[in-house]
Amino acid sequence: MCGIVAYIGPRKAHEVIIKGLKRLEYRGYDSAGIALLNGSLNIYKKKGRVSDLENTLEDEKLASRVGIGHTRWATHGEPNDENAHPHYSFSKNLAIIHNGIIENYSSLKQELLNKGYSFKSETDSEVFIQFIEDIQVNNDCSLEEAVRLALTKVVGAYAIVIMSKDDPNMLIAARKGSPLVIGIGKDEFFLASDATPIIEYTNEVVYLNDYEIAIIDNNELRLKNTQDVASTPYIQTLDMELEAIEKGGYEHFMLKEIFEQPRSISDCMRGRLNANKGRLVLGGIREYANKLVNADRIIIVACGTSWHAGLVAEYFFEEFCRVPVEVEYASEFRYRNPIIKEGDVMIAISQSGETADTLAAIELAKSKGAIIFGVCNVVGSSIARVSHEGAYTHAGPEIGVASTKAFTAQLTVLSMIALRVAHKKGTITERRYHELLVEMENIPSKVEKALELDAQIKLVAERFKDAKNFLYLGRGYNFPVALEGALKLKEISYIHAEGYPAAEMKHGPIALIDEEMPVVFIATRDSSYDKVVSNIQEVKARKGKVIAVVTEGDALIPKMAEFVIEVPKTDEALMPMVSVIPLQLLSYYIAVMRDCNVDQPRNLAKSVTVE
Ligand code: M6R
Repeated sequence: MCGIVAYIGPRKAHEVIIKGLKRLEYRGYDSAGIALLNGSLNIYKKKGRVSDLENTLEDEKLASRVGIGHTRWATHGEPNDENAHPHYSFSKNLAIIHNGIIENYSSLKQELLNKGYSFKSETDSEVFIQFIEDIQVNNDCSLEEAVRLALTKVVGAYAIVIMSKDDPNMLIAARKGSPLVIGIGKDEFFLASDATPIIEYTNEVVYLNDYEIAIIDNNELRLKNTQDVASTPYIQTLDMELEAIEKGGYEHFMLKEIFEQPRSISDCMRGRLNANKGRLVLGGIREYANKLVNADRIIIVACGTSWHAGLVAEYFFEEFCRVPVEVEYASEFRYRNPIIKEGDVMIAISQSGETADTLAAIELAKSKGAIIFGVCNVVGSSIARVSHEGAYTHAGPEIGVASTKAFTAQLTVLSMIALRVAHKKGTITERRYHELLVEMENIPSKVEKALELDAQIKLVAERFKDAKNFLYLGRGYNFPVALEGALKLKEISYIHAEGYPAAEMKHGPIALIDEEMPVVFIATRDSSYDKVVSNIQEVKARKGKVIAVVTEGDALIPKMAEFVIEVPKTDEALMPMVSVIPLQLLSYYIAVMRDCNVDQPRNLAKSVTVE
């Protein structure tokens, strides 16, 4: 959680930082702040959005060529002006921005209180900077050394940047567990939680590794680790266009990302799948490919939408690869002493590649000898880096907090992995394999067609925008789609929604159904179609309002449902990539009609880097 940006160089630091923070608001948006060296070390911070902060800044007073900024998602202390970052040290000579959590902050704080320090905020981050200053004073050492010593004593996760009143030419940064990228321009440096605030200035970046400290001093970048061992910065070239992180004429990032899906799914398959030639290549899975093929079982870990993609993958792998699959919430898996043996195979799915619970589940499995395959969207992210091998989803930056194009790209990658494994194992016939390859290539155009339902879905949204509850029901491959539809609605419109396997309804949720209850059925033509039709009748009999997503040409369900949304026909195993589209649009339009902040829903953040 939290976004951090820092700048040092010839530009006006506050302009670079404010612009960067706006790009990082998806990581947290309950307060924002900036520290600048203009005469003295000044901090400007405020509860609310980055634009609220920006409105209070008077440009002419801000001339500074160095600065640090932060947009917060509260962990310690409520969102208010005091708890907003940056934080001063006790003497006000230093300022810090911090993304992460210092777990031993209360004992450190007590130590400092005993020495006479006092605190303005309730945050662990203020303790962190006072602790650094205390070390510097007591050891009479450089700031660089004080930071290093402090990092050997703090427990937890951090990406930090520190600036000093006494040294306008220096920034010190460090990371463990929370991401930090350094952009290298001509005579200037940019630091940020991800590359989006950086790419308009430079595409040369260094991703900081855990336990690394970066010292930018007099226009030079040095790296060392917390054990004081220096290393050479590994400069990478970013492959990202500025337009990919802008709204491109859409009212919200979420809508743009929903409409990008035909392209993002194609991008995900490009160079990997060629049905004509019967070719399916995943360049990121080579050395360990046989581990997947020979696995006795596959453990999938993920959170939220990525977990839903994992559930679809469970159906896919079990059907075509004939291997048992366990799909685990990463947060539960890591704390329940799971049975993992040497050589077990884990697939970790994460859009951001930074989700703390998923990372911890990976570390646990790795420590017991499991082989990890990462399915991530963000290139160079922590999960991508700690995995043995994997495949990127290549969906492009996803900025809207509600995940959409990442989900369909995850399904694309997971289907490709499963088909590759099934083909190698011989658990799929040649005919079926080719059928599925061909059909996968058709998915982008089918998604394109599903997006044409936009106007029709607005009508459904208009009719149900004031509902208090929603039920989403589906079976088989469409059950995880029901979960995903419910999650999308909850997170951006704040309407309570539940997803269930349609047949489970009669074991409890049916009690909720009355004439007020909208029930969304994902009832496409597949092996459970007849059974889902019976479930629709059960809902109708109790006067529930049925909204049905059906396969085009369905003649039966339109006679029962209040609203019918027809999606193009595709293979049952690939249907989630198409049937989820109307549900994404429905949640989007309901949220817009309810005046909700679609891209930055309350209490949420795009990447959950705290457990
Ligand atoms: O970045 P990740 O895929 O690991 O994130 C997992 C969840 O936090 C994420 O999917 C979350 O549930 C989204 N807000 C869903 O739209």
